[in-house]
Amino acid sequence: MNFASDVIDKVLISEQDIQTRIRELGSQISHDYRMTGVHLVGVLKGSVPLVADLLRAIHVPVTVDFLAVSGYGPAERRRGSVRVIKDLDQNVAGRPVLVVEDVIDTGLTLSYILRILRARQPASLNVLAFLDRPGLRLVDLPIRYVGFPIPDDFLIGYGLDYQERYRNLPFIATLKPSLLD
Ligand code: PRP
Repeated sequence: MNFASDVIDKVLISEQDIQTRIRELGSQISHDYRMTGVHLVGVLKGSVPLVADLLRAIHVPVTVDFLAVSGYGPAERRRGSVRVIKDLDQNVAGRPVLVVEDVIDTGLTLSYILRILRARQPASLNVLAFLDRPGLRLVDLPIRYVGFPIPDDFLIGYGLDYQERYRNLPFIATLKPSLLD
């Protein structure tokens, strides 16, 4: 019995489909950045498995850094801002930056991240969102690479958590609705 079988409703995206899509995205990114290489900026913590897989699917020079921001809960929404809680280690000025997010919902987190990165004057600034919930979007954002559009259900696995657990599942699944009551 899987350690998560008591919380999984159904598998939405299988491990095989995830890995196939990662290879496709890696090929596309390798082609698009063939002249410059690419600097990945992963947004902690959900992007960790994605960044690890994507790095190995890219076949041009690649560097990586991570950023963490506070979650966009009701309190932050009232204040109108998200906070950086772990900044980048490296300067992005003049570099071809690709921000890597596990999921985009409202777009508010990403909109904040893009604003602070743009001010640091990278050579280029693009976004990869492995999962995209366009139904929840509040701000329109340019997303260059999307893995899968997804419905509004609560999902776990491949970086996505329920109470900080289940990020290690190699597939993406819906959570049992009874847990959200
Ligand atoms: C998730 C995700 C994005 C953000 C998207 O992070 O990784 O950063 O929410 O939401 P938005 O589009 O509505 O702003 P979360 O706060 O769950 O943190 P985690 O990655 O550490 O789980």
